[in-house]
Amino acid sequence: MILVTGATGNVGRHVLAQLREAGAADVRALVRPGATHPHDGVDVATGRLDHPDGLDAALTGVGTVFLVWPFLTTDGAPAVLKAIGRHAQRVVYLSSIGVGGPEEPADPIFTLHADMERLIEASGLPHTVLRSDTLASNTLGWAEQIRGTGVVRGPLTAATAVVDPRDIAAVAVRALTDEAHVGATHLLTGPEVISRPEQVEAIGAAIGRELRFEEVPVPDARARMLADGRPPALVDALLSAAENRSTSTLVTSTVEDVTGSPPHSFARWARDHREAFR
Ligand SMILES: NC(=O)c1ccc[n+]([C@@H]2O[C@H](COP(=O)([O-])OP(=O)(O)OC[C@H]3O[C@@H](n4cnc5c(N)ncnc54)[C@H](OP(=O)(O)O)[C@@H]3O)[C@@H](O)[C@H]2O)c1
Repeated sequence: MILVTGATGNVGRHVLAQLREAGAADVRALVRPGATHPHDGVDVATGRLDHPDGLDAALTGVGTVFLVWPFLTTDGAPAVLKAIGRHAQRVVYLSSIGVGGPEEPADPIFTLHADMERLIEASGLPHTVLRSDTLASNTLGWAEQIRGTGVVRGPLTAATAVVDPRDIAAVAVRALTDEAHVGATHLLTGPEVISRPEQVEAIGAAIGRELRFEEVPVPDARARMLADGRPPALVDALLSAAENRSTSTLVTSTVEDVTGSPPHSFARWARDHREAFR
């Protein structure tokens, strides 16, 4: 039995769908109580990663876990790993490409995933780490601005090789179903480095509208986000990418090496998700 956490999320939903397409017999989705989920006919267990005491029922009979950690701190993670270790033999963890890089110490998201990787290592559970570059699905957060004004305003985060969540999921499915990936750390990127203005342009091409990106200085963005009532730690995490990350030149062949198929371009992702921006 494979348990998919984050099963309603950008990556987890594709992990679940692709496991089913691949014919994996025993797959279970962990969803929060009351959450609606997009998977008919799948075994669903309710539980919360921030309430590890309640996870044993979801983990009963589970051998392998696809683990996402959707929090800003590792609080509670040792207890979750302990619960997993009482049942499962293997974990595939969705981490970040910044772990181990020069920008890790200054970036709360990179630091979080580095700490999670250390905790997983210390747990003794056999594991595979998927270090993902920026997800293409982050741009869904622009949909309202695109529909409303055609101008995306935000901090100018450095360009990265943005990756399609479907490609992360495809690698995850291989890692979840083939023990040969135990001990591996896969660095997963899209096929090309692409800036934010280029992403906006690609979405414009996908929906047949001219769109543009307008940079907002980080201090202005911070003031707006705090005024909107967002927690300061979240604001710091969201803005640290714009403040601290430099343009990445890293493009890996790992998606194709592992799955046999080249990663989707951002333009392709945008075409396949055009309805979200109309
Ligand atoms: N965004 C990026 O560019 C990027 C890059 C590298 C790595 N990552 C990492 O990838 C991971 C997943 O990203 P994503 O875009 O798939 O995230 P996402 O779409 O926000 O999904 C998060 C998932 O976690 C679930 N969740 C939230 N709180 C939970 C709780 N207390 N208990 C159980 N489940 C809970 C959510 O369920 P609900 O639907 O109920 O909220 C959702 O299914 C994150 O850890 C992120 O740090 C992201």
